[in-house]
Amino acid sequence: MATPVTSTILNIEPIDLEYAGLKKDSLKGEVAVVTGGASNVGLGYARAIAWAGAKVVVADFNAEAGAETERVINAEIGPDTALFVKTDVTKEEDIKNLAAKAFAKFGKVDLLINNAMNMRLNGPILSSPISDLDQSYAISGRGVAMAIKEFVPAMVERGHGVVTYSATQFHYAPPMVGGTIYCAGKAAATSVVMSLANEVKDKGVYVFCLTPAGVGRFDFSKMPPPPPPEPGQEPPKDMPKFDMSMFGMPGFHGMIPPEAGGAAMVYSLLHAQELHGSGIIISDAFTAMNFPYPNQATAPKPAPGMEMHRLSDMELTMAFCTMGSGFAK
Ligand SMILES: NC(=O)c1ccc[n+]([C@@H]2O[C@H](COP(=O)([O-])OP(=O)(O)OC[C@H]3O[C@@H](n4cnc5c(N)ncnc54)[C@H](O)[C@@H]3O)[C@@H](O)[C@H]2O)c1
Repeated sequence: MATPVTSTILNIEPIDLEYAGLKKDSLKGEVAVVTGGASNVGLGYARAIAWAGAKVVVADFNAEAGAETERVINAEIGPDTALFVKTDVTKEEDIKNLAAKAFAKFGKVDLLINNAMNMRLNGPILSSPISDLDQSYAISGRGVAMAIKEFVPAMVERGHGVVTYSATQFHYAPPMVGGTIYCAGKAAATSVVMSLANEVKDKGVYVFCLTPAGVGRFDFSKMPPPPPPEPGQEPPKDMPKFDMSMFGMPGFHGMIPPEAGGAAMVYSLLHAQELHGSGIIISDAFTAMNFPYPNQATAPKPAPGMEMHRLSDMELTMAFCTMGSGFAK
């Protein structure tokens, strides 16, 4: 077995999608763009999609982590598999530059994975500056719409493509989390993406949301530092601390490894036609895949009393009680 690629700035583990029942080359010939692809969920998606044989363009405004993501994927899979393009998805010129670089390098884009979000934009409406709401919509709403306008016309022309969005099951923010700003932005992008599904119906382009729901390996000592907040963008001081155990779910600490999240994304892309116009919560993807997650042999041991168990859609829905049942299956 090849030596696993390591990184001093990215928080990664070796990626094994055969364990998840997936096949190398299942996405061969495809070219993906992953926004926010240099960290956590997006990094897992980018590495998994590359593992499955696609070329990957990583779009992120974190230049250091983005360059390292390109290096890691090219070391894991082979030269010229990944391309990093520094991109702020709120800037139209950056999206156009992203498309130009992607087309110049790989000639086309088949899979648009809208995933970027500034997770620090997560405050209550009453104590957050309105500029936070502007920024939330700018990334997760307008940014998604701009990427769609840049990449989807060529997909429609070729009758081939997939568009996904990293949605949230927080249709609106529960009181303890206080993420009104975050949820409003996510709702905006979800509306754009799910409406697109209608616009491209019968055009060979498939559109769905994949909801990560607790993906992360939040070892902050290894995470690249977030960029400093812009003036007026500081997180509110009274923002409540989020902890899944507050939902009475000590086994669920938001610790689905990003590599497992990547497996769910590859599976979902392979089933895009079935998922078109709907969405899937990551735990449901694992169930559909019959993915024996977590891998007991390699998973880091949870703290006593914090052992992981796989949640059903119903458990997730109950946990986020007032949220509604999520997307149709
Ligand atoms: N982690 C979860 O369990 C979870 C749950 C539900 C939804 N989501 C969604 O999944 C996505 C990824 O979540 P995550 O936990 O990996 O977040 P993260 O903060 O770890 O990663 C977000 C990435 O997006 C990048 N980014 C932020 N603003 C950007 C911008 N303007 N332009 C380009 N890149 C930008 C960041 O640099 C980072 O690499 C987000 O859209 C989030 O809302 C995550």
